[in-house]
Parts: sequence; structure tokens; C-alpha cells
Amino acid sequence: FIENDLKKNAPLFGKKVLITAGPTYEAIDPVRFIGNHSSGKMGYALAEEAAKQGAEVILVSGPTALSLSNSSIKLIQVTSAQEMFNKVHEFYAETDIVIAAAAVSDYKAKKIADQKIKKAEENLTIELEKNPDILKSLGEQKTHQFLVGFALETENELIYAREKLEKKNLDFIVLNSLNDKGAGFKKDTNKVKIVSENEVKNLPLKSKQEVAVDIIQEIVERVL
Ligand code: PMT
Repeated sequence: FIENDLKKNAPLFGKKVLITAGPTYEAIDPVRFIGNHSSGKMGYALAEEAAKQGAEVILVSGPTALSLSNSSIKLIQVTSAQEMFNKVHEFYAETDIVIAAAAVSDYKAKKIADQKIKKAEENLTIELEKNPDILKSLGEQKTHQFLVGFALETENELIYAREKLEKKNLDFIVLNSLNDKGAGFKKDTNKVKIVSENEVKNLPLKSKQEVAVDIIQEIVERVL
């Protein structure tokens, strides 16, 4: 009973939170893919923290080597951007808060070769086509949902982050730059700016768990 009372008093009790994490893999043939360096650490830390604050959490994750410590989190594993798009949309209508921490491939192979591509010519060209922008589509279909995106940049960081904030119809965006030591892919730490329409909050270098606490706190303050 005490545990149940504690849960009910948690700030995100009764809220459904959908989080994306990790990379996507876009197959080019049966053995190879286009991917990126995301480990999933940032997204998994957010899922654990949202659950700790009482939310019902669905984590849609690309391929990672991570496991979850909170067994109440519903983990849905996907591989490609299109699969992530489909799963996210399956749950979107009933979701209150979305946090998109996944590093989604912007492009995929136009044709996936049926057999392993053989080494032959000196140069090989693979034609790519655009993947759907998952977060942008959520922004377009937004009814009551609170939307948080991430921006991973290497130049003109604030300008690009603000563009994504507006284009994807987000409530705020978390900017991390590969120019900051200890920030971005794979590491256990991150250095982020929380960017909203009227404000930029500059956070110091912290563990991804601590960054997750700050992001969830920011959401709680804005949603409740
Ligand atoms: O996983 P880690 O190793 O811990 O690293 C964490 C991280 C660096 C991956 C994470 O902090 C991060 O920045 N994630 C977003 C990376 C990214 O792809 O950013 P972007 O600027 O390309 O995309 C902007 C936003 O749109 C993101 O919220 C992304 O999830 C979303 N997006 C992008 C492309 C696409 N086709 N669909 C999307 O939904």
C-alpha cells in the first residue's frame, strides 16, 4: 500500500511517455547496413528516469547492447527507421509525452540487394532515398502531446536546433554538439542545452543519468 501511495504521488503518475533511443540500421544487402554511433545510453537513461517519476513508459529502441533495470518499462525493439516510424505511430494517439533521443538514419538504400554485394568494380554507388522524419510527422499530427526532440550538431548548433524546434513543432529541443568534449554518442556523459522558443538553458557536463533527471524535471515543470 505504501508503495502504491508513493507511486500516485510521483509527478508523472498517470502519464504515458514514449521514448525513442539508439541508432537505426538501414540494410543495403543481407549482411551490411548503414548505421551510426548511437549506443542508446541517453534514451535508456530517460526511460529509467521517466519511470522513476511514475510514468508509464514505452521505449522504442534501435539495436543496442543495453538492458533496462526497471521491468515496468515496455521495450519495443526495432531495426530500421521505417519500423521505428510504424511503432511510434501505433502508440502516439494515447501518448502524453514523447522524447525522441534516437539517432534516426535520414536515408536508406533505394533497393536492398537480395544477395551479398560482390566485390567487383573499383567504385560502387548505392542509391539512397529519404526515410520518413518520425518526429516531424508527430509534430504535424500533434493534438495534446508534449513533444521533446534532440539535435545532434557539428556546426551552427543553435541555429540548426532552433530550426528543428520550429519545423518539427516541438515544445523544446535538447541540443548536444560533437564539438563539446564528453558530449554525444557512446559516452557516459553529455553536455546539453535545453532550447525552447524563448529560452536557452546551458547545462554543464554531467552523466547521462543526471542529464535525464534535468530533462524530465523540465518536462514536469512545463506539463504540470
Ligand atoms: O545513444 P547515445 O550514444 O547515448 O547518444 C545520444 C545521442 C547523441 C544519439 C542523443 O543525445 C541525440 O542527440 N539524439 C538525436 C540524434 C539525431 O539524430 O539528431 P538529428 O538532429 O539528426 O535529429 C533531430 C531530431 O529528429 C531527433 O530527435 C531525432 O530523433 C528526430 N528524427 C531525425 C530524423 C528522422 N528521420 N526522424 C526523426 O524522428
